[in-house]
Amino acid sequence: MSSFIEKEKKARRAAIWIIGGMIGIWIVLSIFSFTDSAARKRPDTTQVTFAGQTALRGKQVFQAYNCMDCHTMVGNGAYFAPDLTKIYDHTGPAWLKAYLSSPGTYPTRAIVNVNLQELIQSGAVGPTTLDDYLAKYPGAKSRVEERGGVQALMPNLGFSADDIKALIAFLKYSSKLNTGGWPPKVIASQSVIQREAEKLESESGLIKSRVTGELKSPNSSGAGGAGSSPIALGKEQTINLGCAACHSVDGSKLVGPSFKGLFGSQVSLDGGRTVTADTAYIRKSILEPNADIVKGFPKSVMPAFGGTLTDEQISDIIQYIKSLK
Ligand code: HEC
Ligand code: HEC
Repeated sequence: MSSFIEKEKKARRAAIWIIGGMIGIWIVLSIFSFTDSAARKRPDTTQVTFAGQTALRGKQVFQAYNCMDCHTMVGNGAYFAPDLTKIYDHTGPAWLKAYLSSPGTYPTRAIVNVNLQELIQSGAVGPTTLDDYLAKYPGAKSRVEERGGVQALMPNLGFSADDIKALIAFLKYSSKLNTGGWPPKVIASQSVIQREAEKLESESGLIKSRVTGELKSPNSSGAGGAGSSPIALGKEQTINLGCAACHSVDGSKLVGPSFKGLFGSQVSLDGGRTVTADTAYIRKSILEPNADIVKGFPKSVMPAFGGTLTDEQISDIIQYIKSLK
């Protein structure tokens, strides 16, 4: 009988030790989980800024335009469009500014450069060359090389210049979040990557040729060769420089007014003035877009091309616009 009681006592002691041990492990692990999440503290939305706009305001713009109806952000949202959590780290501010200003078309090298120069001038980014920028942001480099000038599926949501800066501030903030590896990298075998890359290439080639259209015609194939007419050269400039992303040639309204029928027409400006769209007006509109704002269109969305174009390029572009009756 007493040996039975002894056994009971032993078992109880063992049970108490095990429970005590478990509680100890639980406390230690709990402490560890707190230190881990402390390291994952979010950056402050009022502290992260871009060109005078806070990430907080960017978050409001992001929500107001329902970006998450199509995109994912830190795992939330819809899967119709790419994840945006780390897009700032991949592509940087100049590519994002160029893309968000004309979301219907992927930015070309030239238009990223114009946006980069603008950001440098306004002090929003430190001095750098386009090549250094593209080396720092490989996502911008690959997008420019693979998709520059290609039509994009993203709708034109009509952002103001401040909306765009605020969105960039917010995307900068989300890039700083410690997401523990989200979004995951796709692990695919080399053969699958190769096959998809070939498919994409043939598709983007198709779209690209649709956008650049008759440019491939024999008389302008020299891309600046002596035989090219000013009109053909001007047309080529408007595609390479990204003007075509914001200005249609068929009368439809994109981000900016259509070029069709522009030359010689009467343009109503903000403030009630009306001007004739002659050579001087168009030239000024290209070099200093904010000097006159066309009524019903946003200010500061068109980048200023002053300093990046030669007189010849400008006059070719004007010849081309003139030809679009
Ligand atoms: C109606 C759906 C839709 C909405 C709303 C939308 N987008 Fe997009 N967005 C797209 C699609 C589709 C693409 C991919 C374009 C393509 O592949 O042609 C895209 C691409 C992008 C890209 C480039 C991504 C990359 O990896 O190259 C950015 C940046 C972006 N969107 C930002 C935004 C922001 C910011 C908002 C909200 C202000 C927004 N989008 C709202 C559909 C949408
Ligand atoms: C990111 C979009 C964007 C790009 C790129 C862009 N523009 Fe514009 N452009 C606009 C907007 C918006 C307006 C209207 C607001 C204003 O007057 O500045 C405009 C206005 C103009 C006007 C005045 C039009 C009128 O009806 O009076 C001309 C001319 C013009 N742009 C030419 C160009 C040329 C040439 C290029 C390329 C070298 C170019 N734009 C690139 C957005 C753009």
